[in-house]
Amino acid sequence: MYALEGIVSRGNVRVRPAAPSDISELIVLSEANGVPEHMSGRGRRARKTDTATIANRFSQLLTDPDRLVLVAVEEEHGAVVGFAVLLEEQVGVLAPTPTMYISHLLVAPSYRRRGTGRALLTGAVRHAEDREIDHVVVGVQAAARDANRYLARLGFAPLVVRRIASVQALRRSLGIVDSVDRAALRRRRSVRGVLPSRVVGRGA
Ligand SMILES: CC(C)(COP(=O)(O)OP(=O)(O)OC[C@H]1O[C@@H](n2cnc3c(N)ncnc32)[C@H](O)[C@@H]1OP(=O)(O)O)[C@@H](O)C(=O)NCCC(=O)NCCS
Repeated sequence: MYALEGIVSRGNVRVRPAAPSDISELIVLSEANGVPEHMSGRGRRARKTDTATIANRFSQLLTDPDRLVLVAVEEEHGAVVGFAVLLEEQVGVLAPTPTMYISHLLVAPSYRRRGTGRALLTGAVRHAEDREIDHVVVGVQAAARDANRYLARLGFAPLVVRRIASVQALRRSLGIVDSVDRAALRRRRSVRGVLPSRVVGRGA
């Protein structure tokens, strides 16, 4: 959708929009740190995302008009040491408010605690300002205590907690009983693989 107006420099790190030539380094960074499952573009987990899928996903993200991928590049060797994926998104159904949503914020472990995360967030703030957006939202796993503490210290307040359960588990906990017709329909769909009993993952 948009290019970041200018480039953010902080310490020995420079933040700029990602280019296709960054994809191989973004893959290494993602794989070394465990690819967040929701980058696979699917809601299900428990499958290791392969390199080709990640490459394909990054290519899509870089050409997605609604998103901006920022990379943090260390100045000495020009290596990509972190990235953030930004999306302009409305929060609130009844009173929608535009926000800059950061779905991924990742810094290489060997490059943490040097201000790289802050440099990426600074890039997100600049971008929000350029788009005249007043709020930044970050998606973070509820169980990621250090990341939550880090964000809280920067002033991010909790917004919503999204909980997830499989349809199968909800059927049990809600005590759902099918009519004869509905049970037959479910059996037919199950045979065709439409209603698989897979475990659904926890995306942020
Ligand atoms: C969360 C994360 C992005 C932070 O990245 P980072 O580059 O380490 O962040 P910063 O360097 O800006 O700040 C980290 C800490 O180092 C401190 N710091 C920053 N510059 C520093 C410097 N030059 N020297 C010493 N400490 C420094 C910061 O004050 C901060 O301290 P705090 O945690 O007590 O507030 C990184 O830990 C990460 O990638 N985690 C895994 C993925 C994840 O959980 N992402 C979060 C949401 S999707």
